[in-house]
Amino acid sequence: MSKLTLSPAWKALAAHRKKIAAANLADLFAADPSRAERFLIEAGGLVLDYSKHRVDAEAMRLLAGLAAQAQLPRWIASMFAGDPINSTEARAVLHVALRSEDTTFPERGDVMPAVRSARERMRRFVDEVQRGTLKGSDGRTITDVVNIGIGGSDLGPRMLARAMRKFREAGPKVHFVSNIDPADLEAALAGLTPGTTFFIVASKTFTTAETLANAARARAWLASALGNSNGPSRHFAAVTANPAGAEALGVPPERVFPMWDWVGGRYSVWSAVGLPVALAAGMSAFEELLHGARAMDAHFRNEPLELNMPVVLALLEIWYVNFFGAQTRAVIPYSEDLRDLPAYLQQLEMESNGKRVDRDGNEVDYATAPVVWGASGTPSQHSFHQLLHQGTHLIPVDFIVIGRNEESSAEQGALVANALAQSAALAFGNPAPDAPYKALPGNRPSSTVLLERLTPRALGALIALHEHKVFAEGVIWNLNSFDQWGVEHGKNLARTLLPRLLEGGDTAGLDASTRGLFARLRNRD
Ligand code: F6P
Repeated sequence: MSKLTLSPAWKALAAHRKKIAAANLADLFAADPSRAERFLIEAGGLVLDYSKHRVDAEAMRLLAGLAAQAQLPRWIASMFAGDPINSTEARAVLHVALRSEDTTFPERGDVMPAVRSARERMRRFVDEVQRGTLKGSDGRTITDVVNIGIGGSDLGPRMLARAMRKFREAGPKVHFVSNIDPADLEAALAGLTPGTTFFIVASKTFTTAETLANAARARAWLASALGNSNGPSRHFAAVTANPAGAEALGVPPERVFPMWDWVGGRYSVWSAVGLPVALAAGMSAFEELLHGARAMDAHFRNEPLELNMPVVLALLEIWYVNFFGAQTRAVIPYSEDLRDLPAYLQQLEMESNGKRVDRDGNEVDYATAPVVWGASGTPSQHSFHQLLHQGTHLIPVDFIVIGRNEESSAEQGALVANALAQSAALAFGNPAPDAPYKALPGNRPSSTVLLERLTPRALGALIALHEHKVFAEGVIWNLNSFDQWGVEHGKNLARTLLPRLLEGGDTAGLDASTRGLFARLRNRD
């Protein structure tokens, strides 16, 4: 047994879970008229209503005790102090510095001069592009920017560029390409003109196969139209912690924006990885995004555990995963502009906490990150909500709801009404004594995160909320949330299989299934 599952806080929670099992959400609401106000937190312009969860005050007290037992406040302080809490890579975890306005931060190993200088360079570049003074090699103004990147170098900027599209200022259209399948780049380039197209190659390592393949294809596309000499190079910028790699691709050094080993890929959208966002929505909108994240950072750092929004979300997830056996969580933004949020959260949460060995090197005897999935409402209601309401799995849901939009409150009202209807139906069900197949049992938990409007500030707070939630969970599960060793082996295997597939090389040493599939698939001509 692990220290965690043997701990008094864990045992108290297991005992309390048995007590609370009989109570359903309707009973919990009936027993406490102030429940809706009591289980509500406001922070960074967001409101979290967690009253529709299967918890009472005692459950929340015990869960906070679990966080205290894990010394979460000490870990939070340690992250903000720049300690090397990414232990397997001996690195600090300082994405919070990317949105800091402190003159020096952290106290030891101040990174702010580098952060400020990169932000200044971003500002100048965005200004150049938006004013139309960035010209292609044949002197024409750049009209389209294609971001080439994958994982953390794609999902964050892609999600935010869409979410912030209404803040678009004058400037280029932004496109995203991530898949090694050439169809992705081909589709993005359809209708674009080489002379007016610019590429940002975002890769922390600059060794990622998909990104390098797409960058090379983009270069060839430019070269075939603009010639091979200096033309293509003028159409590239890069964001990387490996400037030599970018320069080898021909990116001019003055167009190489920095990344640092103290920023994880999935936490990097606040750096120059966010350039496509700043290009799409303007630098002032990007700075508002940082502002929103900064507000959530202050909240996470200073608020007591029970009133701390990221901590409470983490504790609720642990409650369901470890004490109710939940294996998944659905994220349903009632906003088409937030359509890509579930995909972004999949990497953030599953790459961070999808782990089975703890910080001490021991295999855990408790479940860790659930499968995160979801889609935008209302289309999701006509797809998987049947299972949410009447299926056999316990699936906590996060509803993300926008209060108002600029254009039309009536249309926004339809989204809000649908979101609230779904969360109420999940919680309180609908009896159908004469037709059991129609009955909704209810007692199905959900959170509602309310954004007054879909502003860059609210988005910054929303993303930082999830970053900190993931960290808080990792601390309690005793995981290092900042490495991702699980993805390396597959990359290496693909690297060794590719030449054998293309050149018909030796299949000895491969397992029988792979060998059989190889025989069918490899180029025979
Ligand atoms: O394969 C996983 C991963 O390393 C992610 O953590 C990262 O966001 C992605 O690949 C892209 O990496 P890079 O920015 O170095 O190209």
